Amino acid sequence: MNYSGPAIILGYFSGQKMRTVFLFVLPFLFIMQLQAQTHPQLDLMPLPAQVEMGNGELQINPAFSVAITAHDDALLRRAVERFLSHLRGKTGMTALDMSVAKLPPATLVVEVEQPSESVQGAEEDESYSLTVTSAEAHLHSRTALGAMHGLQTFLQLIEATPSGFAVPVVSIEDAPRFPWRGLMIDASRHFMPVDVIERNLDGMEAVKLNVLHWHLSDDQGFRVESKKFPKLQELGSDGLYYTQKQIREVIAFAHDRGIRVVPEFDIPGHTTALLTAYPEFASAPGPFKIERNWGVFNPTLDPTRDATYKFLDALIGEMAGLFPDHYFHIGGDEVNGKEWNGNANIREFKRVHHLATNDDLQAYFNERVERIVTKYGKTMIGWDEILRPNLPKSAVIQSWRGAQSLAEAAKQGHRGILSAGFYLDLVLPASQHYAVDVMPPPAVGLTDEEQKRILGAEACMWAEYVTAENVDSRIWPRMAAIAERFWSPQSVQDIPSMYRRLEVVSRQLDGLGLTHNTSYPIMLRRIAGEDDISNLRTLADVVEPTKGYTRMKTAAVKPTALVPLNRLVDAARPESVTARHFAEMTDAFLANPADANIKSNIEAMLKQWHAAALALSPLEEKSFLMKELAPLSQSLGAVSDAGLQALQHFGEASASAQEWKTQQLSVLDAASQTQAQVTLAIVPAIRKLVEASGGAATASPSK
Ligand code: ACM
Repeated sequence: MNYSGPAIILGYFSGQKMRTVFLFVLPFLFIMQLQAQTHPQLDLMPLPAQVEMGNGELQINPAFSVAITAHDDALLRRAVERFLSHLRGKTGMTALDMSVAKLPPATLVVEVEQPSESVQGAEEDESYSLTVTSAEAHLHSRTALGAMHGLQTFLQLIEATPSGFAVPVVSIEDAPRFPWRGLMIDASRHFMPVDVIERNLDGMEAVKLNVLHWHLSDDQGFRVESKKFPKLQELGSDGLYYTQKQIREVIAFAHDRGIRVVPEFDIPGHTTALLTAYPEFASAPGPFKIERNWGVFNPTLDPTRDATYKFLDALIGEMAGLFPDHYFHIGGDEVNGKEWNGNANIREFKRVHHLATNDDLQAYFNERVERIVTKYGKTMIGWDEILRPNLPKSAVIQSWRGAQSLAEAAKQGHRGILSAGFYLDLVLPASQHYAVDVMPPPAVGLTDEEQKRILGAEACMWAEYVTAENVDSRIWPRMAAIAERFWSPQSVQDIPSMYRRLEVVSRQLDGLGLTHNTSYPIMLRRIAGEDDISNLRTLADVVEPTKGYTRMKTAAVKPTALVPLNRLVDAARPESVTARHFAEMTDAFLANPADANIKSNIEAMLKQWHAAALALSPLEEKSFLMKELAPLSQSLGAVSDAGLQALQHFGEASASAQEWKTQQLSVLDAASQTQAQVTLAIVPAIRKLVEASGGAATASPSK
């Protein structure tokens, strides 16, 4: 992954599929078409395509009942049962009747027109209508997939009111903007056990994602049991792999949640683990061993030998049987060509076949692999690198390089999926991903036909710096904001609204068993080496891990697969909620410095940070994991001191102000450097305070 940064592309909306049936127009309703600024306070994420709010609410009490009145099948039944169990969890109403009626009346009537496909299709109808009156709710959809989405919307609508749990009177017409809305999880670089995958599937269902792209093989591990080539798991996985039984269980679990599972077996590069097991298919003599480092490595399949294709035919055949999805991902990224250059037979093959470059040789390889994938009834997907003139048009391109490359694929007749801009491992703020549109911008000049080839997008969770313990905190809750970008109309752009709802969804995800919040204190207690983490948590709450791919560059110890991920940088959240709230308060104060209330809130936060910084110093001796935090906590003390001084002298004119300001700004400059691979996310807001202050303190006000 040599990705150099997210492309921020503001595009425009087109091509939404919206069903227009079943719109109740109740006389007291007022139209709330989705407008960024005027959207009602419903805590839904992703926001539906169309919402009409009414007056009143439907009470949710222990008499709650469900009827399935039209098409009924086991998939829908399980979805309703899961819904009821989430409803119990959300309300604590353990006495809820779990039986499902066939006829109304019921609190929630579910009316589905037809079965969904037995192997979920990539472009099945997922639309639904949900109408809630004060007497009942009616969910209507073409397929069970739409019903599943509608049930999730209903769960998100439940709120505690003064008179009990209730859902507001509302009418929703909803359908996704894009049919392909995915999350890629890399289970190779760090293995992700089944329970990690399953809880993430629960989270995906909650925010209407429908593709788990499972990155199953790479240099650091081949993670699926092969019965035909057992050395793959025996020698290529360190014993950390999914049995075929587990794979089938995960696929069934995902299918129940309206989620397709697309496997990726990365070839011909990223194959060190595979070639550790079967070096005979390599382009260099070997032997190979499972890679422990991060980066791009030389081991590559030999694309010139029939034996390689015979092996791939058998392996792809086995895996195509195991994974029922219609799509099969062959990776294809980051082939460095070094082994090909170093092999005389390969050089000769290129000469004889008029393959001038290694890209041409890889294109030859892809064409042969595509025939194998097609033979097993699958459509091939690969990363940008597979896009070459002779690639069959049926192949789908997943773009990690940017909108331009996605647009190029669409222009050449390929369908495409965007991942550039949605790399979760870059630890960027949700707002930055939210600003990336899936559709290439108008300037790129795609025709309507070409735009239809943009199937959707996937966020990518590459696993160099995540384990089962902290992976949820890298995915969630940011993934919910990205899911909104994939599902909701392009006009949904209001960032404060997104952040407000993201915090609500984050709590909902807690309820589903995602560990983005629960693993945090556990990791902090390990770092502190004791139970009282109050001061460490105060520090951790205001830092963010170093962004982009700077982690490798700024590391004191070279990160590898063998280095534990047990430091503050691993526990800290990608985006500090405290820092964001503090920045909002600071802006409000600067807009209205006479507001004593905001001023005292800001002061209280600064004082808390200052006190935590002082209290942390004795702890730094106690645990080796605390040691690296000493300069950081000193910085926290210094910047909170600067903020307190700025507040104290706000609005005072003073002759020495300029000197004071210069001094404080240099403190802030020093504190804004990455330390222990995290940054203090509160520094920009404190800088604003200092810059706006009259300044000129002679002594720290906080001592
Ligand atoms: C990739 O990031 N190499 C797909």
